[in-house]
Amino acid sequence: MTFDTIIRGGTVATASDTFACDVGIRDGRIAALGRDLGDAKEIIDASGRLVLPGGIDSHVHISQPSGPGIVMADDFESATRAAAFGGNTTVLPFCLQERGQSLRQAVKDYHAKAEGNCYIDVSFHLIISDPSEQVLGQELPALIKDGYTSFKVFMTYEDLALSDRQILEVMAVARETQALVMVHAENFDAIRFLTDRLERLGQTAPHFHGTSRPIPVEREATHRAIALAELVDVPVMIVHVSNRDAMEEIRRAQQRGLKVSGETCPQYLVLTEKDMEGLNMEGAKYVCSPPPRDAASQAACWEGLQQGVFSVFSSDHCPFRYDETGKLAPKGRTSFRWVPNGIPGIETRLPILFSEGVVKGRIDLNRFVALSSTNHAKTYGLYPRKGTIAVGADADIAIWDPAREVTISQNILHHGADYTPYEGLHVTGWPVTMLVRGETVVADGALVGRKGAGQHLARDPSPFAKQS
Ligand code: URP
Ligand code: ZN
Ligand code: ZN
Repeated sequence: MTFDTIIRGGTVATASDTFACDVGIRDGRIAALGRDLGDAKEIIDASGRLVLPGGIDSHVHISQPSGPGIVMADDFESATRAAAFGGNTTVLPFCLQERGQSLRQAVKDYHAKAEGNCYIDVSFHLIISDPSEQVLGQELPALIKDGYTSFKVFMTYEDLALSDRQILEVMAVARETQALVMVHAENFDAIRFLTDRLERLGQTAPHFHGTSRPIPVEREATHRAIALAELVDVPVMIVHVSNRDAMEEIRRAQQRGLKVSGETCPQYLVLTEKDMEGLNMEGAKYVCSPPPRDAASQAACWEGLQQGVFSVFSSDHCPFRYDETGKLAPKGRTSFRWVPNGIPGIETRLPILFSEGVVKGRIDLNRFVALSSTNHAKTYGLYPRKGTIAVGADADIAIWDPAREVTISQNILHHGADYTPYEGLHVTGWPVTMLVRGETVVADGALVGRKGAGQHLARDPSPFAKQS
């Protein structure tokens, strides 16, 4: 039997096992695992390397409308290229419904932006900002049937925040359709109150962004989101959790038998509010929500990852340039209130988790695979086609050099942002070669993939959201 490609001599790791074996690939799928697989058109030498399921980043924002005059720094071309360099083979960006817009139209618009531009596979979550009768009764159930089986709701942000009543209505649709609800949990009124007060005191520099959304703001909203989901009896994913209080809310719910899971992100493991200290406008480079907090919060997020309170580790890539199109827009409005929220991280997510997690002994390699790939596929209805190395699965593979020493710096990255909040962070371990459905996208650190080769994936209902 001949193969299109054999990855030879590497150490394969899945979410459950680590073993030495070769990987035979035919027609875009993994066709054999073993030794002495015979011939192939292409042999990739993986000796001394790790052969892992390609990363799946289930929380990214690409080309998302972000307010007048503001342009996101990545389109689908640059974001999926950067994602591939960062060890990813699938990303799940959000398709944002703007208020007053039909959800169907929003989906069409995002497909038009992505079509022909992606280097790796893509599958959209929805963002529901306007749960009208038409959306709840028709568009949303129809789109879920079409494979858009997860959506996010916001408890904060002007133009996005839903009322508790609206969240309940949306959750009721998720219950009927087995879709998975993702929640951005921060208390909008509390943030507005604190922001107004800070502005009255003239405390408007970017580092006051964190002061305007302290831990109780997130803890209260996390508790409320879980309570709302409990009322409707629907599973829920609390995204981008930043601290112990919110993590413990999720853990308590899990201990009570509720189907609640959590996600955390690199910024909550390696950044703190201190990174903004002494910075004036440059602090805008770190403005994201929830904000990075302190060392104790970092420890709590690691605990959440180690103990399974968090099932997924995502980037929340939300890139803006440090100029008038992004972090410094709009002109003349200098308060942190106007700084677009979000930081880039699509390319650095996995090296940070590998180095800070596996290399430093906080998590083992199998948990790394689960948190970076397998659990995303399982949670969002892509498993077992994606997220594992097994016969029959798509040959989505990331080959890592586990010993490579890299200092993260803007000049080695491929995203559209003009800075990285992780500048100067030293990591050990870097993804070097990535294959999507058997086609090499990045070979030994060089781009060889084709723009447009990435496909959109319709997803199954989330097994996590399945009603018992
Ligand atoms: O600050 C952040 N996280 N921006 C991205 C949008 C979101 O809330 O996920
Ligand atoms: Zn969010
Ligand atoms: Zn986000």
